[in-house]
Amino acid sequence: MGAPVAALLLVQLLVPVELEMLGLQDQGRLFPEPCGHQNIYPRIVGGKDSVLGRWPWQVSLRFHKGHTCGGSLLNRRWVLSAAHCFVKHGGPSKWVVQLGEPSSRPSLWNLWAFYHRYKVQDIIMYPHFKGSSFNDIALLRLTSSVTYNKYIQPICVMASSFEFQNWTNCWVTGWGHIRENKELPPPYTLQEVQVTIINNSRCDYLFQQPDFFYRIGDGMICAGSEDGSHDTCKGDSGGPLTCEKNGLWIQIGIVSWGVGCGRPNRPGVYTNVSRYFGWIQRLTADSTPKPDPFPLLLLLPLLWAAPLVQLACAQLSP
Ligand SMILES: *[C@@H]1O[C@H](CO)[C@@H](O)[C@H](O)[C@H]1NC(C)=O
Ligand SMILES: *[C@@H]1O[C@H](CO)[C@@H](O)[C@H](O)[C@H]1NC(C)=O
Ligand SMILES: *[C@@H]1O[C@H](CO)[C@@H](O)[C@H](O)[C@H]1NC(C)=O
Repeated sequence: MGAPVAALLLVQLLVPVELEMLGLQDQGRLFPEPCGHQNIYPRIVGGKDSVLGRWPWQVSLRFHKGHTCGGSLLNRRWVLSAAHCFVKHGGPSKWVVQLGEPSSRPSLWNLWAFYHRYKVQDIIMYPHFKGSSFNDIALLRLTSSVTYNKYIQPICVMASSFEFQNWTNCWVTGWGHIRENKELPPPYTLQEVQVTIINNSRCDYLFQQPDFFYRIGDGMICAGSEDGSHDTCKGDSGGPLTCEKNGLWIQIGIVSWGVGCGRPNRPGVYTNVSRYFGWIQRLTADSTPKPDPFPLLLLLPLLWAAPLVQLACAQLSP
């Protein structure tokens, strides 16, 4: 019994040291705690079903108990997703976040899945989110702190993603449709697909073939393959597009929109996360780390006092 515990402690001690040695604790990256680490490596290269723990930041956002959108874990309290997921249902109370579970429809007696669900306290859409494609980004604050384990880890976000413009080791993950009008079959295992980042000028050009016109905005990134064989589809929205660099995984995009799924010359379009780095940093900074219930206790008297103050005002006004 002693040996595994000691080994675990050793790993925990070694990981931060290793990160510092790689010089990755720079200012352009979000969050002081280690992020972007895959603990499980794929056994089958090119396989479609993902292996549990390979994408430990992947989140299933559930509305009324059913998988609705994807998301990614940024730290213990915050989840990143797409704003268009919340246009119809912007209230946080009916949303639940499921972590560390490979199935989007775990069985009723899967206690692991139920234990790793978290309630949502706030849904914050980007203030200038317009319609369904521009500024398609949202943050979710959870009501309680996420406990990390081998299967639940945060992803890194960086201030700049310029260098990823031609990157090929990028992956998109999700529980969305596997083809247009074709749902993911049981047991609803998380799917993964490797994509290439297609630069905006190339993507603009592709979208005009043969006679469609859509201008890819500055806040968007295209990824997929030009022949359409690697793409995202309905139900993947809000999920992460991540790229690997020196063994570290960085979230570059958020699944946003597309024209159909897997059609030639219509790569998937993603929100460019780096562009919103400042906004993400500002919102998530104020609640990490989260201390114990102490501030809540302080807040309670204030909440009690609020109606009294209102009453007092009402009585004062003529
Ligand atoms: C994302 O946007 C930033 C800032 O506009 C830009 O520098 C970067 O190249 C974009 N990323 C990609 C992969 O196109
Ligand atoms: C992307 O790759 C093309 C050729 O494949 C090259 O001409 C171009 O300079 C590269 N762009 C970046 C930003 O690395
Ligand atoms: C965009 O990608 C195309 C095709 O890969 C490449 O030929 C072109 O040089 C790239 N442009 C830039 C600015 O990197």
